Amino acid sequence: MRMLKNFVFGIPPTKLVRTSRRKIEHLKICANKSVESSHRYFDDVILIHNALPEIDGEKISLRKRFLNRDFTAPIMVSSMTGGHPKTERVNANIAKSIEELGLAMGVGSQRAALKDPTLERTFKIVRKKAPNSFICANIGAQQIKELKKEDIERIVDMVEANALCIHLNFLQEAVQPEGEVNGEGCLRMIEALCDNVDIPVIIKETGAGISREVCKKLKNLKLGGIDVGGAGGTSFSAVEYYRVLKNRRFLNVGSVFWDWGIPAPASILECREVMDIPIIGSGGIRSGLDVAKAIALGADMTGIALPILKPALKGEKDVSMVLKKYIKELKIAMFLTGTEDIDDLNNIPLLIKGDLKEYLSLRGIDVKRFALR
Ligand SMILES: Cc1cc2nc3c(=O)[nH]c(=O)nc-3n(C[C@H](O)[C@H](O)[C@H](O)COP(=O)(O)O)c2cc1C
Repeated sequence: MRMLKNFVFGIPPTKLVRTSRRKIEHLKICANKSVESSHRYFDDVILIHNALPEIDGEKISLRKRFLNRDFTAPIMVSSMTGGHPKTERVNANIAKSIEELGLAMGVGSQRAALKDPTLERTFKIVRKKAPNSFICANIGAQQIKELKKEDIERIVDMVEANALCIHLNFLQEAVQPEGEVNGEGCLRMIEALCDNVDIPVIIKETGAGISREVCKKLKNLKLGGIDVGGAGGTSFSAVEYYRVLKNRRFLNVGSVFWDWGIPAPASILECREVMDIPIIGSGGIRSGLDVAKAIALGADMTGIALPILKPALKGEKDVSMVLKKYIKELKIAMFLTGTEDIDDLNNIPLLIKGDLKEYLSLRGIDVKRFALR
Protein backbone atom coordinates (compact mmCIF):
# COMPACT_ATOMS: atom_id res chain seq x y z
CA MET A 1 0.00 0.00 0.00
CA ARG A 2 2.92 2.35 0.66
CA MET A 3 3.74 2.45 -3.04
CA LEU A 4 0.15 3.24 -3.91
CA LYS A 5 0.15 6.03 -1.35
CA ASN A 6 3.16 7.61 -2.98
CA PHE A 7 1.62 7.29 -6.40
CA VAL A 8 -1.73 8.80 -5.60
CA PHE A 9 -1.07 11.05 -2.72
CA GLY A 10 2.32 12.45 -3.52
CA ILE A 11 1.43 16.14 -3.80
CA PRO A 12 1.80 18.18 -0.61
CA PRO A 13 -1.69 19.23 0.57
CA THR A 14 -0.63 22.86 0.96
CA LYS A 15 -0.38 23.21 -2.80
CA LEU A 16 -3.93 22.16 -3.42
CA VAL A 17 -7.19 24.04 -3.41
CA ARG A 18 -9.61 22.90 -0.74
CA THR A 19 -12.04 20.88 -2.87
CA SER A 20 -9.23 19.08 -4.61
CA ARG A 21 -7.53 18.22 -1.32
CA ARG A 22 -10.76 16.89 0.13
CA LYS A 23 -11.18 14.62 -2.90
CA ILE A 24 -7.78 13.06 -2.37
CA GLU A 25 -8.35 12.68 1.37
CA HIS A 26 -11.57 10.79 0.62
CA LEU A 27 -9.77 8.53 -1.82
CA LYS A 28 -6.99 7.83 0.65
CA ILE A 29 -9.42 6.98 3.46
CA CYS A 30 -11.58 4.78 1.20
CA ALA A 31 -8.51 2.89 0.01
CA ASN A 32 -7.07 2.33 3.47
CA LYS A 33 -9.83 2.26 6.06
CA SER A 34 -12.94 0.25 6.68
CA VAL A 35 -15.66 2.62 5.51
CA GLU A 36 -18.62 0.37 4.88
CA SER A 37 -21.97 0.14 6.64
CA SER A 38 -22.28 -2.45 9.40
CA HIS A 39 -25.05 -4.26 7.55
CA ARG A 40 -24.99 -5.67 4.02
CA TYR A 41 -28.62 -5.38 3.00
CA PHE A 42 -28.24 -7.37 -0.21
CA ASP A 43 -27.46 -10.38 2.03
CA ASP A 44 -31.07 -10.14 3.20
CA VAL A 45 -32.26 -10.93 -0.33
CA ILE A 46 -32.26 -14.60 -1.36
CA LEU A 47 -32.87 -15.78 -4.89
CA ILE A 48 -34.66 -19.13 -5.10
CA HIS A 49 -32.59 -21.93 -6.56
CA ASN A 50 -33.90 -23.63 -9.70
CA ALA A 51 -32.72 -27.25 -9.71
CA LEU A 52 -34.01 -27.74 -13.25
CA PRO A 53 -33.07 -24.58 -15.12
CA GLU A 54 -33.85 -25.99 -18.62
CA ILE A 55 -31.64 -23.36 -20.26
CA ASP A 56 -28.22 -23.45 -21.89
CA GLY A 57 -25.77 -21.56 -19.67
CA GLU A 58 -23.82 -20.58 -22.78
CA LYS A 59 -26.84 -18.82 -24.25
CA ILE A 60 -27.53 -16.55 -21.27
CA SER A 61 -27.67 -12.92 -22.37
CA LEU A 62 -26.62 -10.16 -20.00
CA ARG A 63 -27.12 -7.49 -22.66
CA LYS A 64 -29.05 -4.56 -21.36
CA ARG A 65 -30.55 -1.51 -23.03
CA PHE A 66 -30.36 1.53 -20.77
CA LEU A 67 -30.99 5.15 -21.72
CA ASN A 68 -31.03 4.21 -25.41
CA ARG A 69 -27.70 2.43 -25.34
CA ASP A 70 -26.73 -1.24 -25.32
CA PHE A 71 -24.44 -2.55 -22.59
CA THR A 72 -22.77 -5.96 -22.31
CA ALA A 73 -24.12 -6.20 -18.76
CA PRO A 74 -26.18 -3.94 -16.48
CA ILE A 75 -23.08 -2.79 -14.61
CA MET A 76 -21.49 0.62 -14.33
CA VAL A 77 -18.65 1.99 -12.26
CA SER A 78 -20.20 4.67 -10.08
CA SER A 79 -18.86 8.21 -9.86
CA MET A 80 -15.69 8.38 -7.81
CA THR A 81 -12.85 10.49 -8.89
CA GLY A 82 -11.03 13.19 -10.80
CA GLY A 83 -10.34 16.66 -9.47
CA HIS A 84 -6.82 16.11 -8.16
CA PRO A 85 -3.77 15.77 -10.41
CA LYS A 86 -3.01 12.27 -9.18
CA THR A 87 -6.48 10.96 -9.96
CA GLU A 88 -5.98 11.15 -13.71
CA ARG A 89 -4.49 7.66 -13.84
CA VAL A 90 -7.23 6.25 -11.62
CA ASN A 91 -9.90 7.52 -14.02
CA ALA A 92 -7.83 6.34 -17.00
CA ASN A 93 -7.66 2.80 -15.59
CA ILE A 94 -11.41 2.65 -15.05
CA ALA A 95 -12.12 4.15 -18.47
CA LYS A 96 -9.87 1.71 -20.36
CA SER A 97 -11.51 -1.20 -18.61
CA ILE A 98 -15.13 -0.21 -19.22
CA GLU A 99 -14.33 0.58 -22.85
CA GLU A 100 -12.92 -2.94 -23.25
CA LEU A 101 -15.87 -4.58 -21.50
CA GLY A 102 -18.71 -2.51 -22.98
CA LEU A 103 -19.85 -1.11 -19.63
CA ALA A 104 -20.42 2.45 -18.37
CA MET A 105 -18.89 4.78 -15.79
CA GLY A 106 -19.39 8.04 -13.97
CA VAL A 107 -16.69 10.51 -13.07
CA GLY A 108 -16.46 12.09 -9.61
CA SER A 109 -17.71 15.59 -8.87
CA GLN A 110 -16.29 18.02 -11.43
CA ARG A 111 -16.52 20.99 -9.10
CA ALA A 112 -12.76 21.19 -8.55
CA ALA A 113 -12.15 21.45 -12.30
CA LEU A 114 -14.60 24.34 -12.58
CA LYS A 115 -12.55 26.20 -9.99
CA ASP A 116 -9.20 25.20 -11.44
CA PRO A 117 -9.14 24.45 -15.20
CA THR A 118 -5.74 22.72 -14.89
CA LEU A 119 -7.66 19.86 -13.27
CA GLU A 120 -9.88 19.35 -16.33
CA ARG A 121 -7.46 16.80 -17.70
CA THR A 122 -8.19 14.48 -14.75
CA PHE A 123 -11.72 14.15 -16.20
CA LYS A 124 -10.98 14.57 -19.92
CA ILE A 125 -8.80 11.47 -19.78
CA VAL A 126 -11.95 9.39 -19.37
CA ARG A 127 -13.34 10.27 -22.81
CA LYS A 128 -9.87 9.88 -24.28
CA LYS A 129 -9.55 6.33 -22.97
CA ALA A 130 -13.19 5.39 -23.47
CA PRO A 131 -14.16 7.06 -26.75
CA ASN A 132 -17.21 4.85 -27.37
CA SER A 133 -18.48 4.35 -23.83
CA PHE A 134 -21.38 5.75 -21.87
CA ILE A 135 -19.93 8.36 -19.50
CA CYS A 136 -21.79 10.29 -16.81
CA ALA A 137 -20.70 13.79 -15.81
CA ASN A 138 -21.17 14.69 -12.13
CA ILE A 139 -21.90 17.69 -9.93
CA GLY A 140 -23.53 18.18 -6.52
CA ALA A 141 -27.10 19.46 -6.16
CA GLN A 142 -25.97 22.27 -3.83
CA GLN A 143 -23.43 23.42 -6.38
CA ILE A 144 -25.87 23.93 -9.24
CA LYS A 145 -27.22 26.94 -7.37
CA GLU A 146 -23.87 28.66 -7.84
CA LEU A 147 -23.35 27.63 -11.45
CA LYS A 148 -24.06 29.43 -14.68
CA LYS A 149 -25.36 27.74 -17.83
CA GLU A 150 -21.82 27.86 -19.27
CA ASP A 151 -20.49 25.97 -16.23
CA ILE A 152 -22.94 23.14 -16.79
CA GLU A 153 -21.96 23.07 -20.47
CA ARG A 154 -18.31 22.88 -19.44
CA ILE A 155 -18.97 19.95 -17.14
CA VAL A 156 -20.80 18.07 -19.88
CA ASP A 157 -18.27 18.92 -22.60
CA MET A 158 -15.31 17.99 -20.39
CA VAL A 159 -16.17 14.29 -20.74
CA GLU A 160 -18.52 14.56 -23.75
CA ALA A 161 -21.05 13.15 -21.35
CA ASN A 162 -23.93 10.88 -22.29
CA ALA A 163 -25.76 11.72 -19.05
CA LEU A 164 -25.37 14.18 -16.19
CA CYS A 165 -25.49 12.92 -12.60
CA ILE A 166 -26.60 15.38 -9.97
CA HIS A 167 -25.53 13.97 -6.64
CA LEU A 168 -27.37 14.38 -3.36
CA ASN A 169 -24.90 14.00 -0.49
CA PHE A 170 -26.50 15.80 2.41
CA LEU A 171 -25.41 13.15 4.90
CA GLN A 172 -21.80 13.78 4.03
CA GLU A 173 -22.20 17.56 4.02
CA ALA A 174 -23.92 17.43 7.42
CA VAL A 175 -21.19 15.47 9.19
CA GLN A 176 -18.27 17.16 7.40
CA PRO A 177 -16.63 20.04 9.27
CA GLU A 178 -16.64 22.26 6.15
CA GLY A 179 -19.92 20.83 4.80
CA GLU A 180 -22.51 22.91 2.96
CA VAL A 181 -25.85 22.37 4.60
CA ASN A 182 -28.06 24.79 2.75
CA GLY A 183 -30.52 22.55 0.94
CA GLU A 184 -32.94 25.37 0.13
CA GLY A 185 -33.98 25.68 -3.48
CA CYS A 186 -32.27 22.48 -4.67
CA LEU A 187 -35.41 20.92 -6.10
CA ARG A 188 -36.22 24.04 -8.11
CA MET A 189 -32.67 24.20 -9.45
CA ILE A 190 -32.73 20.51 -10.42
CA GLU A 191 -36.03 21.08 -12.21
CA ALA A 192 -34.62 24.04 -14.14
CA LEU A 193 -31.55 22.02 -15.03
CA CYS A 194 -33.63 19.12 -16.35
CA ASP A 195 -35.50 21.55 -18.59
CA ASN A 196 -32.32 23.04 -20.02
CA VAL A 197 -29.91 20.17 -20.53
CA ASP A 198 -30.16 18.07 -23.66
CA ILE A 199 -28.72 14.85 -22.21
CA PRO A 200 -30.50 12.71 -19.58
CA VAL A 201 -30.19 14.00 -16.01
CA ILE A 202 -29.76 11.32 -13.33
CA ILE A 203 -30.45 12.12 -9.69
CA LYS A 204 -27.96 10.19 -7.62
CA GLU A 205 -27.57 9.58 -3.89
CA THR A 206 -24.15 8.71 -2.54
CA GLY A 207 -24.87 6.05 0.08
CA ALA A 208 -27.93 7.14 2.07
CA GLY A 209 -30.65 6.17 -0.42
CA ILE A 210 -33.74 7.80 -1.89
CA SER A 211 -37.18 7.29 -0.35
CA ARG A 212 -40.60 7.14 -2.00
CA GLU A 213 -41.37 10.56 -0.47
CA VAL A 214 -38.39 12.13 -2.24
CA CYS A 215 -39.31 10.27 -5.45
CA LYS A 216 -42.76 11.84 -5.31
CA LYS A 217 -41.11 15.27 -5.26
CA LEU A 218 -38.98 14.30 -8.26
CA LYS A 219 -41.73 12.56 -10.16
CA ASN A 220 -42.79 15.47 -12.37
CA LEU A 221 -39.28 16.51 -13.33
CA LYS A 222 -37.88 15.60 -16.74
CA LEU A 223 -35.43 13.13 -15.24
CA GLY A 224 -33.55 10.58 -17.32
CA GLY A 225 -32.99 8.24 -14.41
CA ILE A 226 -32.43 7.80 -10.71
CA ASP A 227 -29.43 6.21 -8.97
CA VAL A 228 -30.60 5.11 -5.54
CA GLY A 229 -27.12 5.11 -3.92
CA GLY A 230 -28.56 3.35 -0.87
CA ALA A 231 -27.12 2.34 2.49
CA GLY A 232 -25.27 -0.94 2.92
CA GLY A 233 -22.04 -0.10 1.13
CA THR A 234 -19.72 2.89 1.42
CA SER A 235 -20.70 5.15 4.30
CA PHE A 236 -19.62 8.74 3.78
CA SER A 237 -20.29 9.35 7.44
CA ALA A 238 -17.56 6.77 8.11
CA VAL A 239 -15.26 8.50 5.63
CA GLU A 240 -15.75 11.85 7.37
CA TYR A 241 -15.27 10.19 10.76
CA TYR A 242 -11.76 9.17 9.71
CA ARG A 243 -11.01 12.60 8.28
CA VAL A 244 -12.01 14.33 11.49
CA LEU A 245 -10.05 11.83 13.60
CA LYS A 246 -6.88 13.39 12.23
CA ASN A 247 -7.97 16.87 13.17
CA ARG A 248 -9.08 17.15 16.74
CA ARG A 249 -10.17 20.77 16.34
CA PHE A 250 -13.50 19.52 14.99
CA LEU A 251 -16.36 17.67 16.69
CA ASN A 252 -16.49 14.11 15.40
CA VAL A 253 -20.09 13.15 14.70
CA GLY A 254 -19.39 10.64 11.91
CA SER A 255 -19.66 7.48 14.02
CA VAL A 256 -23.23 8.32 15.11
CA PHE A 257 -24.43 8.48 11.49
CA TRP A 258 -22.23 5.62 10.21
CA ASP A 259 -25.23 3.43 9.32
CA TRP A 260 -27.65 6.22 8.47
CA GLY A 261 -29.75 5.78 5.38
CA ILE A 262 -32.28 3.81 3.41
CA PRO A 263 -31.10 0.28 2.62
CA ALA A 264 -30.20 0.11 -1.08
CA PRO A 265 -32.61 -2.77 -1.89
CA ALA A 266 -35.43 -0.90 -0.10
CA SER A 267 -34.58 2.25 -2.00
CA ILE A 268 -34.84 0.37 -5.32
CA LEU A 269 -38.31 -0.86 -4.33
CA GLU A 270 -39.50 2.53 -3.07
CA CYS A 271 -38.26 4.34 -6.18
CA ARG A 272 -39.76 1.70 -8.48
CA GLU A 273 -43.10 2.10 -6.69
CA VAL A 274 -43.23 5.78 -7.70
CA MET A 275 -41.14 6.12 -10.85
CA ASP A 276 -41.27 4.44 -14.24
CA ILE A 277 -37.90 5.82 -15.34
CA PRO A 278 -34.61 3.87 -15.46
CA ILE A 279 -33.28 3.03 -12.00
CA ILE A 280 -29.67 2.37 -11.08
CA GLY A 281 -29.39 0.09 -8.06
CA SER A 282 -26.29 0.96 -6.06
CA GLY A 283 -24.83 1.11 -2.58
CA GLY A 284 -23.24 -2.12 -1.40
CA ILE A 285 -23.26 -4.06 -4.67
CA ARG A 286 -20.40 -6.41 -3.85
CA SER A 287 -20.77 -9.28 -6.34
CA GLY A 288 -22.49 -10.30 -9.54
CA LEU A 289 -25.02 -12.04 -7.30
CA ASP A 290 -25.86 -8.65 -5.77
CA VAL A 291 -26.27 -7.30 -9.31
CA ALA A 292 -28.79 -10.09 -10.02
CA LYS A 293 -30.64 -9.25 -6.78
CA ALA A 294 -30.81 -5.53 -7.61
CA ILE A 295 -32.18 -6.27 -11.09
CA ALA A 296 -34.65 -8.77 -9.63
CA LEU A 297 -35.90 -6.04 -7.29
CA GLY A 298 -36.56 -3.69 -10.20
CA ALA A 299 -33.31 -1.90 -11.06
CA ASP A 300 -32.36 -1.51 -14.75
CA MET A 301 -28.65 -0.96 -14.14
CA THR A 302 -26.33 -1.32 -11.16
CA GLY A 303 -23.47 0.85 -9.90
CA ILE A 304 -20.31 -0.20 -8.09
CA ALA A 305 -17.87 2.23 -6.49
CA LEU A 306 -15.67 1.13 -3.57
CA PRO A 307 -14.71 -2.36 -4.86
CA ILE A 308 -13.26 -0.68 -7.97
CA LEU A 309 -11.14 1.87 -6.14
CA LYS A 310 -8.15 -0.26 -5.08
CA PRO A 311 -7.91 -2.06 -8.45
CA ALA A 312 -8.11 1.33 -10.20
CA LEU A 313 -5.16 2.57 -8.13
CA LYS A 314 -3.16 -0.33 -9.57
CA GLY A 315 -4.09 -0.67 -13.22
CA GLU A 316 -6.60 -1.28 -15.95
CA LYS A 317 -6.19 -5.07 -15.82
CA ASP A 318 -6.97 -5.10 -12.12
CA VAL A 319 -10.20 -3.20 -12.75
CA SER A 320 -11.14 -5.58 -15.56
CA MET A 321 -10.47 -8.59 -13.38
CA VAL A 322 -12.98 -7.38 -10.77
CA LEU A 323 -15.59 -6.44 -13.36
CA LYS A 324 -15.21 -9.76 -15.19
CA LYS A 325 -15.73 -11.56 -11.89
CA TYR A 326 -18.98 -9.62 -11.37
CA ILE A 327 -20.09 -10.56 -14.89
CA LYS A 328 -19.33 -14.23 -14.31
CA GLU A 329 -21.15 -14.24 -10.97
CA LEU A 330 -24.17 -12.56 -12.56
CA LYS A 331 -24.24 -15.24 -15.24
CA ILE A 332 -24.07 -18.01 -12.63
CA ALA A 333 -26.92 -16.41 -10.66
CA MET A 334 -28.98 -16.29 -13.85
CA PHE A 335 -28.21 -19.90 -14.70
CA LEU A 336 -29.14 -21.10 -11.22
CA THR A 337 -32.44 -19.24 -11.34
CA GLY A 338 -33.17 -20.49 -14.86
CA THR A 339 -33.07 -16.98 -16.34
CA GLU A 340 -31.87 -16.73 -19.93
CA ASP A 341 -32.42 -13.02 -20.51
CA ILE A 342 -31.47 -10.23 -18.11
CA ASP A 343 -34.91 -8.60 -18.24
CA ASP A 344 -36.52 -11.85 -17.06
CA LEU A 345 -34.67 -11.54 -13.75
CA ASN A 346 -37.33 -9.07 -12.79
CA ASN A 347 -39.92 -11.84 -12.53
CA ILE A 348 -38.07 -14.47 -10.52
CA PRO A 349 -39.16 -15.34 -6.98
CA LEU A 350 -37.00 -14.10 -4.12
CA LEU A 351 -37.06 -14.01 -0.35
CA ILE A 352 -36.50 -10.93 1.77
CA LYS A 353 -35.46 -11.58 5.33
CA GLY A 354 -33.85 -10.02 8.40
CA ASP A 355 -33.40 -6.27 8.85
CA LEU A 356 -34.44 -5.57 5.27
CA LYS A 357 -37.73 -7.44 5.72
CA GLU A 358 -38.45 -5.47 8.87
CA TYR A 359 -37.62 -2.18 7.20
CA LEU A 360 -39.83 -2.93 4.20
CA SER A 361 -42.73 -4.22 6.29
CA LEU A 362 -42.69 -1.10 8.42
CA ARG A 363 -42.69 0.97 5.21
CA GLY A 364 -45.80 -0.88 4.07
CA ILE A 365 -44.16 -3.02 1.39
CA ASP A 366 -45.49 -6.57 1.21
CA VAL A 367 -42.42 -8.79 1.00
CA LYS A 368 -44.45 -12.00 0.50
CA ARG A 369 -45.40 -11.06 -3.03
CA PHE A 370 -41.77 -11.41 -4.12
CA ALA A 371 -41.56 -14.93 -2.69
CA LEU A 372 -44.67 -16.06 -4.51
CA ARG A 373 -44.32 -14.47 -7.93
C1 LIG B 1 -13.74 7.34 -3.15
C2 LIG B 1 -15.15 7.66 -3.52
C3 LIG B 1 -15.44 8.90 -4.06
C4 LIG B 1 -16.75 9.22 -4.43
N1 LIG B 1 -17.01 10.42 -5.01
C5 LIG B 1 -18.25 10.67 -5.51
C6 LIG B 1 -18.52 11.85 -6.25
O1 LIG B 1 -17.65 12.69 -6.46
N2 LIG B 1 -19.77 12.02 -6.74
C7 LIG B 1 -20.78 11.10 -6.53
O2 LIG B 1 -21.90 11.28 -7.03
N3 LIG B 1 -20.54 10.00 -5.79
C8 LIG B 1 -19.33 9.75 -5.28
N4 LIG B 1 -19.10 8.60 -4.58
C9 LIG B 1 -20.23 7.74 -4.22
C10 LIG B 1 -20.38 6.54 -5.14
O3 LIG B 1 -20.64 6.95 -6.45
C11 LIG B 1 -21.50 5.58 -4.66
O4 LIG B 1 -22.73 6.22 -4.77
C12 LIG B 1 -21.31 5.13 -3.23
O5 LIG B 1 -19.96 4.93 -2.92
C13 LIG B 1 -22.05 3.82 -2.95
O6 LIG B 1 -21.56 2.77 -3.73
P1 LIG B 1 -20.55 1.63 -3.14
O7 LIG B 1 -21.19 1.09 -1.90
O8 LIG B 1 -20.46 0.62 -4.24
O9 LIG B 1 -19.25 2.29 -2.86
C14 LIG B 1 -17.79 8.28 -4.21
C15 LIG B 1 -17.48 7.02 -3.65
C16 LIG B 1 -16.18 6.71 -3.31
C17 LIG B 1 -15.91 5.36 -2.72
